[in-house]
Amino acid sequence: MSAVDVVVRLVYLAAATLFVIGLHLMNSPATARRGNVLSAVGMGAAVAVTLVLLLAAQTVTPAGWAVIAVGTLVGSAAGLYAARRVAMTAMPQLVSLFNAVGGGAAALIGIHDYLRFGGPDGDLTLLTTTAVTLDVIIGTVAFSGSLVASAKLQGWMPGRPLLLPLRGAVNLVVAAVIAVASVGLIAELAGTPALLLIVVAALLLGVLVVLAIGGADMPVVVSLLNSCTGVAVAMAGFVIGNSMLIIAGALVGASGGILTKLMADAMNRPIRAILVGGYGTGDAAGALPGGAGDGVRTIDADDAAIRLAYAGRVIIVPGYGLAAAQAQHELHELAELLEERGVRVDYAIHPVAGRMPGHMNVLLAEAKVPYSQMREMDEINPEFPRAAVALVVGANDVTNPAARRPGTPVSGMPILDVDRAETVIVVKRSLGHGYAGIDNELYTDPRTRMYLADAKTALSELGTAVKTLVG
Ligand code: TAP
Repeated sequence: MSAVDVVVRLVYLAAATLFVIGLHLMNSPATARRGNVLSAVGMGAAVAVTLVLLLAAQTVTPAGWAVIAVGTLVGSAAGLYAARRVAMTAMPQLVSLFNAVGGGAAALIGIHDYLRFGGPDGDLTLLTTTAVTLDVIIGTVAFSGSLVASAKLQGWMPGRPLLLPLRGAVNLVVAAVIAVASVGLIAELAGTPALLLIVVAALLLGVLVVLAIGGADMPVVVSLLNSCTGVAVAMAGFVIGNSMLIIAGALVGASGGILTKLMADAMNRPIRAILVGGYGTGDAAGALPGGAGDGVRTIDADDAAIRLAYAGRVIIVPGYGLAAAQAQHELHELAELLEERGVRVDYAIHPVAGRMPGHMNVLLAEAKVPYSQMREMDEINPEFPRAAVALVVGANDVTNPAARRPGTPVSGMPILDVDRAETVIVVKRSLGHGYAGIDNELYTDPRTRMYLADAKTALSELGTAVKTLVG
């Protein structure tokens, strides 16, 4: 082994260690930023020594170096621009777009390797051709599926599930075509035409599966496709014999898989049911059906301000509506006003509040809410009975007591026990539904008061009202 090889392997090992430490630091919002930086340093080092390896091997032509240079410049500029400019609420679609790029790149590696070294006269082993086939299938499905997911999340396509007739049968036929063509490719019966068929069918499968899934299920799908991209990248690593790609791909595949499972569990929805599609209309917000609003008690800013300002303890429950209204700064200002008056304030974070993992943590962190005040569901739930007010801002499903009994779409989903606080104040625009599309029994609870307004407006009004209170 040459000295360059030894150095490259040592740097790969260091990079892999940084990835693992980085992932571990992402466990907490307080250390997540550091985790990101460490992982990025690891990736930067891995890319740099890979370039050194290519230079030493002298296998890249001047035209090849030009392509690498232009690709690096364009890719880095686009990544930097997107990361700095894209709004926090648009992150899921950006992640999905990056995911498409990763899946597509992994698939291209497999296609290139097969076209160059594969086929009956080529020198790819059975194992490598199998890895190429899996790489191309998974990478291509992740590519087209992620593009559709991104378009749905961005609103370029309808968020509702697009349920084509006979879609189950069509999906099965497309999957069967992929399976048959794969056998043809691996057994060296059909060569390049089989590869082409796999690419076309896998592109179609990604589009068909994701089209049928509702916009609000997209975060789970994005996470699953992200995991697929990781697996495709690991396969690409096997194809070209690069251990760094194998390690990085395996880490993405495993962490994406775990995240998908955690999200599905927290929503109490099996992953299989999500993939079948047809659930969730996007962001449903219809009024409660006739009469269901009976028994709802409303509250105005002055009354709500008095209850909050004279409470010993307030627990704030943020939800998707807070993100939609971009009212995180107004919320933090209100909390600070209450704290100045001696009120203890905490924020209760449900694992699937909002539309992406960690959505509420990121939103509140942006408004500089201290991490120590962001409390996980299991930790804060026993404390609701000691709170004078639970202030629910733009959250709906994650507070619905219907989850505690069987027979509803949210049954079994763990919820925040807001209805155990002395008073519940709910800030939202109407009695409309959340993602699950069902009535919230909390709204007719005798201890609940509805403050019906846009979260940004309501929180500013509450802040003003608290400021005018004397004593
Ligand atoms: P939701 O149940 O979706 O409810 C959000 C509420 O926000 C709506 O009822 C809406 O009511 C209100 N809202 C919207 N815009 C508003 C505005 N400008 N001002 C005030 N309120 C506004 O939200 P949640 O409680 O956060 O629950 C999240 C849901 O998403 C769960 O069902 C979860 O399973 C699902 N989900 C989450 C994830 C992740 S990873 N977080 C992934 C997939 C699905 P109005 O229209 O009446 O204002």
